[in-house]
Amino acid sequence: MRKKIIAGNWKMNKNLEEGLALASEVVNIAKDEAPNDVTIVMCTPAIHLSQVSAMTADSANVFVGAQNMSEHESGAYTGDLAADMITSTGASYVIIGHSERREYHFETNEQLAARVKLALAKGLTPLFCCGESLEVREAGNHVEFVTNQLKESLYDFGAEDLKKVVIAYEPIWAIGTGVTASAEQAQDMHKSIRASLASNYSDAVAAEISILYGGSMKPTNAQELLGQPDVDGGLIGGASLKSRDFIDITKSY
Ligand code: G3P
Repeated sequence: MRKKIIAGNWKMNKNLEEGLALASEVVNIAKDEAPNDVTIVMCTPAIHLSQVSAMTADSANVFVGAQNMSEHESGAYTGDLAADMITSTGASYVIIGHSERREYHFETNEQLAARVKLALAKGLTPLFCCGESLEVREAGNHVEFVTNQLKESLYDFGAEDLKKVVIAYEPIWAIGTGVTASAEQAQDMHKSIRASLASNYSDAVAAEISILYGGSMKPTNAQELLGQPDVDGGLIGGASLKSRDFIDITKSY
């Protein structure tokens, strides 16, 4: 049975005091209200990883993730974050290939493949992001574009490694815009992703991989999106910065 995962991507928000306050609220509300069968992940800026991980130590279903990592183990890569640094904080997830990283830092599918490989080697769970621009969608090339991202970054892995990867489909035109993909649009792409996984591996492997939706998911639209057969969870930006909204989304299955 594939995991239900609601991951919050705080992006470049919350200073030390604000971040610890938000994390404390999420952990406390989750303790009382979040469903036990939903995995909750807070992907915080690096400055919070260690202290927020300590806050989640006693939780059975709340975890912490980084928002990026280098494909290099260590060395002269000023400003980058190494996998060993992430694991040393207690964090166990890492977002790889977010569209904002691909756009602003020119991250390539090949580079991201190396990051997924290193993350798996270090025991981190990759949250691998894929998704198309509005231009690609309007041209009707979105399925081909997204499946190519998967092919170039993930399909060289063996089945056992691939099953450890969580895929997050984030249509770029829905990120931070308030324009959410319709439940039908999300389901159509998730179904295509699962079909691509099945044809490159097997139906059994495809059935085990969690595929999250990201792009303006809010408490008001989460239930319809999460009710889709191939939508296993969400990667939440803005709504993850409000503890009440974030936990309400976890309750929307
Ligand atoms: O990684 C999640 C993010 O890209 C979605 O952002 O604000 O549209 O939920 P938002």
